[in-house]
Amino acid sequence: MNTTIVGTGYVGLTTGALLACAGHKVYCLDIDKEKLDVIRSGRSYFYEPGLDTFVKEGIETGNLIPTDSYQDSIPNSEIAIISVGTPSKEDGSTDLSYIESAFDSIAQHMNENLIIVQKSTVPVGTGENMIQRVKEKSNKNFELVSCPEFLSEGTAVFDTLNIDRFVVGGKSDVAKKKVISLFKSIDDLAKETDLDQLSEFSSIYRNKVEKYIDKDFAERVISMDLESAEMVKVTANSFLAMKISFANSIARICDLTGADVTKVMEAVGEDERIGKSFLYAGLGWGGGCFPKDVSGLYQFAEQKGFDFGLLKQTQKVNAQQVRFASKKVEDIISQNNIEDPVVGILGLAFKPGTSDVRESQSIKLANKLAKQDYQVRVSDPQSIEESRGKLDPKISIYDKVEDLIYGVDILILGTDWPVYTNLDFEKYQDKFRNKYLIDGRNRWDKTKLKKLGFVYKGVGK
Ligand code: UGA
Repeated sequence: MNTTIVGTGYVGLTTGALLACAGHKVYCLDIDKEKLDVIRSGRSYFYEPGLDTFVKEGIETGNLIPTDSYQDSIPNSEIAIISVGTPSKEDGSTDLSYIESAFDSIAQHMNENLIIVQKSTVPVGTGENMIQRVKEKSNKNFELVSCPEFLSEGTAVFDTLNIDRFVVGGKSDVAKKKVISLFKSIDDLAKETDLDQLSEFSSIYRNKVEKYIDKDFAERVISMDLESAEMVKVTANSFLAMKISFANSIARICDLTGADVTKVMEAVGEDERIGKSFLYAGLGWGGGCFPKDVSGLYQFAEQKGFDFGLLKQTQKVNAQQVRFASKKVEDIISQNNIEDPVVGILGLAFKPGTSDVRESQSIKLANKLAKQDYQVRVSDPQSIEESRGKLDPKISIYDKVEDLIYGVDILILGTDWPVYTNLDFEKYQDKFRNKYLIDGRNRWDKTKLKKLGFVYKGVGK
């Protein structure tokens, strides 16, 4: 099925490359020519494990066609998938300008009976507004299907091949069937793909319950109306963010009482009604999705006259996690009279497996500490370039962990990359000036580290 994907971000490029490898002709449309040039060379322009293999194959077979032209792509497509960004405005509400412009351009170039698939995360009611908007600009028949996306960065390819549910919302069953059949072809492709090769990051990333879905694709389809489908995504992300903030609040109590939040949550999560995932306490959540979706839903509710206080608190707890970690640093420094303190932070990406630093809690912490005139050093295996403009200029960036550690007083785990969670402390122990550790992701082995003479402070443990 000839398809155009508007927006080549994590969702657009992953979906486009996999559809191309499943045998469809896919126009990957973006306004950014530099990004298109990189894709044309057979690679992704962002770091996403496993993605390059599929982009390369798509380009080599000629099925994946990078383009900046609506005119060349939309009239030749039966389906147009919109996966453009929906960032937050200053007040936290959702900025729909990219969505509106995508719908306008599609309306200008579409032929009869195009199916428009809305994959970007939008406030409920956007789909209906866009239907009216397109109708004002075109007299051609079309259908809109809302198809929320649930992939996570760092495991995008794995998640898209190994999809756990496929939500389709809209009025036309015929259009929904066509969209389902398009995405079923990715499921067929998955059967020929060695998922173990791609699960490298999902298995190290604790929040992902390692699972391979063996239900038929049809059993995973959940069909509903447009508005409900639009609600599913923001509800899911807000709920997950709330779970983490809840665990972080329990961690605060554990800190005050000597209990260990990891043990508490492990036992609590055994209850199937609660589940184990997304209960890991730490520096808090970041990224391009949770922060904007939580604030977007909160603002949307407020506009409709509902005070969604639970979400406000979810955000507040998350912001406190950075202050809480910075307070631990201040306490260590003042209680031990450390002069000219040197603080190292390992990890800048908002989570492991990605180079994305949007709303990174590590970067917020680094900047907060730099403001207090501590010498702050940072490193990351993938996102140093992405971090440059976001870090306080006083912060020193290190390529090598051993150089960062040399002469450090306090070392903080900011992002739980395996290279940091498996750090060889025995090897590096003599390089520290003072041996204080703040485990911002509760991943280091407290008992072992204490034996090596480190002072360990986790988040609620
Ligand atoms: C999230 C959702 O998990 C996806 O289902 C969704 O499709 C995506 O947003 C989106 O809206 O596009 P993502 O932002 O890639 O995916 O990252 P997550 O794996 O959800 O992690 C988010 C943040 O929560 C990270 O900063 C992570 O470190 C933190 N986290 C996660 C915790 O602090 N504790 C946990 O237990 C889990």
